[in-house]
Amino acid sequence: MTIGSAIESAAAHPPMHRRRRFISRGKVKVDHKDLVREEFTRQADDYAAAPMIRDPGHISMLVEMVAPAPDARLLEVATGPGHVALAFAAVCREVVGIDLTEAPLKIAERNKAERAITNARFQLADADRLPFEDGEFDIVVCRFAVHHFDNPTGVIREMARVCRVGGTVAIEDMISSEDRARADYYNEFERLRDSSHTKALPLSEMAQLLGSARCELSRFTSYGMRNPVDGWFKSGHTPPDREAKARAMIERDVAEDLSGARSVRIDGQLYFTHRIAMLVTRKLAPLAC
Ligand SMILES: C[S@@+](CC[C@H](N)C(=O)[O-])C[C@H]1O[C@@H](n2cnc3c(N)ncnc32)[C@H](O)[C@@H]1O
Repeated sequence: MTIGSAIESAAAHPPMHRRRRFISRGKVKVDHKDLVREEFTRQADDYAAAPMIRDPGHISMLVEMVAPAPDARLLEVATGPGHVALAFAAVCREVVGIDLTEAPLKIAERNKAERAITNARFQLADADRLPFEDGEFDIVVCRFAVHHFDNPTGVIREMARVCRVGGTVAIEDMISSEDRARADYYNEFERLRDSSHTKALPLSEMAQLLGSARCELSRFTSYGMRNPVDGWFKSGHTPPDREAKARAMIERDVAEDLSGARSVRIDGQLYFTHRIAMLVTRKLAPLAC
């Protein structure tokens, strides 16, 4: 299916549930998914080229944790420019990557063609209502996207639905503090930089959402990624007024330790740390009624 025909196919699938989130922009209310499309169209090239996003060594951590069988059929949810999907294509039988935004999918298609990869395909689709049958995939992964979902519960349920019983559901994403006020502070400066950021979940909530979808934790790791704030605003194309507010919050964080993001100034440069969790789970059979 081409990206164009996938748009038609997505339109032909009515939503299973409509739980739309609107953001106020002045007096105008904007659908969250339109914000996602807007942000990731604007950021598409910079995001795809960012060293920490495309780094094969970094992506191989997830590939090794998931450890796919060579005959596995894998779905990547919110694939963006497809770096993760294409890395898995080297070790799986077949890979499908879906995303809500067309611009990064075009980059994914280009990367796939340049590398002459024939066992991966990309499709426009909403993670809230995956256009696949129950249990179609052996493995379902999602990297760096849960914090953009307006309905993470529904997406994780969908990821589990399309994974076969005994298969693997894996999430790699940034996490926030278990302390509500610190998590709110962190998510606020993330949202100022990129309006499509909804909420980085605390680890306990992410584990609980997976558990509720009958995904049992089998492997886990976490790490920190120190982020230079100047480059972070640049790649986010953050408007100056929002950047000024976020920068002031991070400066205050350096002095007062308010977010759990280890904000720090080194040689005049401002940094904070993305704390990342990788959870690999096994999909369990449904409970007998
Ligand atoms: C930060 S990028 C991550 C891309 C890729 N997973 C990676 O690790 O490089 C987040 C992606 O999530 C996508 N996205 C956000 N909400 C989505 C949804 N409801 N359905 C599908 N994709 C979504 C955006 O379009 C964007 O490409």
